[in-house]
Amino acid sequence: MKNKIIAGNWKMNKTRPEAEALIKELLPLVADSVNTVIICVPYTDLHTAVQLTKGTNVHVGAQNCHWKESGAFTGEIAPSMLKEMGVEYVIIGHSERRTYFGETDATVLARTQAALQAGLKPIVCIGETLAERQSGRMQQVLTRQVVEGFKDITAQQLANIIVAYEPVWAIGTGVTATDEQANEAIAFVRGVFAQKYGKVAADALYIQYGGSMNDQNAAGLLAMSDVDGGLIGGASLVAAKFAAIVHAHG
Ligand code: PGA
Repeated sequence: MKNKIIAGNWKMNKTRPEAEALIKELLPLVADSVNTVIICVPYTDLHTAVQLTKGTNVHVGAQNCHWKESGAFTGEIAPSMLKEMGVEYVIIGHSERRTYFGETDATVLARTQAALQAGLKPIVCIGETLAERQSGRMQQVLTRQVVEGFKDITAQQLANIIVAYEPVWAIGTGVTATDEQANEAIAFVRGVFAQKYGKVAADALYIQYGGSMNDQNAAGLLAMSDVDGGLIGGASLVAAKFAAIVHAHG
C-alpha cells in the first residue's frame, strides 16, 4: 500500500493569529509522520502558513484558484500568485464551490489546467449528493465528474493531481461514509480513471476520502485498500485531532 496523503481543508476559518497558533501547535505533533501532510488554508493565511512550515514536513495549499493568469476578475486569485508565495497545492471543485459558487465540471477542468500550468498540484474534488446516491445515480454522477472534469488532462498531468472523493452528504454532517462505502466508491472512481489512463496510472493515482473524517474513524477508513488518504474539514481545525488522523495509519 502507498503512504497516505492527509490534507486539512480549513475552509473559511482562522484569522492570521489563529492560524499561527494552530500551525505552531500542529508542527511538532506531525513532524515524524510517514504520510504526506498538507494544510489548505484561506488566502489570508497562506503567507503565515508558508513561512511557518518552511523546512518542515507540512505542505501548504490554497482552496481555489482562477483559470486565467491575470486580468479583470475582481475577487479572484491566479495560480501563479499562489505559486510565487510558495504554495504547493490547491483544492479545486470542492462541493461547496460547486453548490454555492456555480462551479461546474468545465470550470473545474479550467482551474485544474491553470493550476498545473503554474506548477501547483491540484486536489480535485468529486462526489455525489444524497439524492443522487438514493436514486441510484451515484456511479453515473461520479463517471460524469471524472469524464468531464478531466477531459483534456493527459496521463502526465494526472501524475501531479490528487483526487478527493467526498460524498456531499457526508461533508460537515457528522455522517461519515462507512469504510466499505468509501472504499467501494473510490474503487469505482479508480476504475473510471483506469478506462482512460490505464490500470498502472489509475493505481498510482492518489484518491482521498473526505466527509466527516475524524480522529475516531480515520484508522478504519485509511486501512481500506483504495483509500489513499483523507481531506479533512472540521477535524483539521483542532491540532490534536488532525495529528491523530495523520498518525492513524502507517
Ligand atoms: P468535513 O469536511 O471533514 O468537515 O466533513 C470535509 C471537506 O469538505 O473537505
